Amino acid sequence: MSDTAKLILGDKTYNLPIITGTENEKAIDITKLRTETSFITLDNGFANTGATESSITFIDGEKSILRYRGIPIEQVAEHSTFVETAYLLIYNHLPNKCELEVFSKSFTEQAMIHEDMKNFFNGYPSGGHPMSILASMVCSLSAYYPELVKPNPSKEEIDLCVVELLSKVRTICAFSYKKSIGEPFIYPRHDLRYVSNFLNMLFSSSNRYYDINPIIVDTLEVLFILHADHEQNCSTSTCRLVGSSWANLFASVSAAICALWGPLHGGANQSVIEMLQSIIADGGDLKKYINKAKDRNDPFRLMGFGHRVYKNYDPRARIIKKKAYEVFNKLGINDPLLDLAVKLEEQVLKDEYFIERKLYPNVDFYSGLIYQAIGIPTKMFPVMFAIGRLPGWIAHWVEMRENPKSRIGRPRQIYIGNNETNYTPIGNR
Ligand code: CMC
Repeated sequence: MSDTAKLILGDKTYNLPIITGTENEKAIDITKLRTETSFITLDNGFANTGATESSITFIDGEKSILRYRGIPIEQVAEHSTFVETAYLLIYNHLPNKCELEVFSKSFTEQAMIHEDMKNFFNGYPSGGHPMSILASMVCSLSAYYPELVKPNPSKEEIDLCVVELLSKVRTICAFSYKKSIGEPFIYPRHDLRYVSNFLNMLFSSSNRYYDINPIIVDTLEVLFILHADHEQNCSTSTCRLVGSSWANLFASVSAAICALWGPLHGGANQSVIEMLQSIIADGGDLKKYINKAKDRNDPFRLMGFGHRVYKNYDPRARIIKKKAYEVFNKLGINDPLLDLAVKLEEQVLKDEYFIERKLYPNVDFYSGLIYQAIGIPTKMFPVMFAIGRLPGWIAHWVEMRENPKSRIGRPRQIYIGNNETNYTPIGNR
């Protein structure tokens, strides 16, 4: 194939360079399109627009492939830990023993948040959604750690900011939860590793000892790993866009958390459980809900199905479904919601509407069932997604800041409003 694409506009032909990725994906480079032709491209939802070149994550949605820094997700989920995966994504290689030890140790050192920040939590109404508390608290870190928010941080300052954020987010998430149920905070412990420490802060209380269950720890490790990055999704693109103005990492991640909250993105895990519960409460008629999802005049969608990139089974959903059975068996749980979910998936995968549109279960379909089984309340599901996705947001922010070709993100538009209209005074001045 030629290395240029030809664009014919009227009687002129323009040559546009073709870019090829390491997995042979092709793009037409339109960087100079507007200056040369005065045209822009229009692409609702950026479905065909590459915002950047990136070396972090590769997805082939047609073939159900997901790789972190080249390593298949199945291998990462089976062998790695969340902390090691975070290192892999951010620093572009698996750590050796010494690197991992230093990285993990710095999490222990940075786990506490500034004592004054606790007052912020007190200002929120109990019952407030933990995602709103999380987003504001992460942004507030920039006020408490101003030395880390220079517009042009050095490599060492970025490294420090990365561990501060990864470690403190876990504490903030647990505190947000405690606030939302009106219980006193449990401080991080020096003797516990990342996931166990988080579970302890979440479930222990001054008069209740939480017995850390290795099955639950292992399950959460896998869920966090599976969520750790997913290339240019809505929240990651938000993080990059905000960071492209040289906004600091805390502010950029706070914006990403807000983007993740929506039910079409990371809020879907909460919506799946609510949907399954309402199907049961309504008599369990799956056909009725499948028909509602197919009805163009009904805004209802089957939550946990469909994906912008996967036009085949989401590889993360396959691992999570297997994990769900494993955890339920090991913990001796019999959940009617899991049975209902499996039946729903069976019917959906046979239905012409979903087959035609290539709609399969996504990462959120089974994850909520596991969170519920291990005692995480529904409101916390998107928060769990946020902890998992944090290494990805950070890796992309760092990649963008280190790339000399990065420019401020600033899409254009096609204006469809009024033509020039005169101002009609109503005499208010
Ligand atoms: N239920 C029913 N119909 C659907 C669904 C669904 N869950 N998802 C897509 N469709 C239909 C949609 O109506 C459209 O039909 P038509 O061609 O007749 O207009 C077609 O499939 C294509 O959908 P789209 O909305 O153009 O696809 P998109 O790429 O813009 O949206 C999506 C992707 C994930 C937002 C969408 O599939 C959806 O809303 N799913 C439910 C919410 C969900 O589970 N979100 C989690 C996504 S995975 C984790 C993450 O990224 O956070």
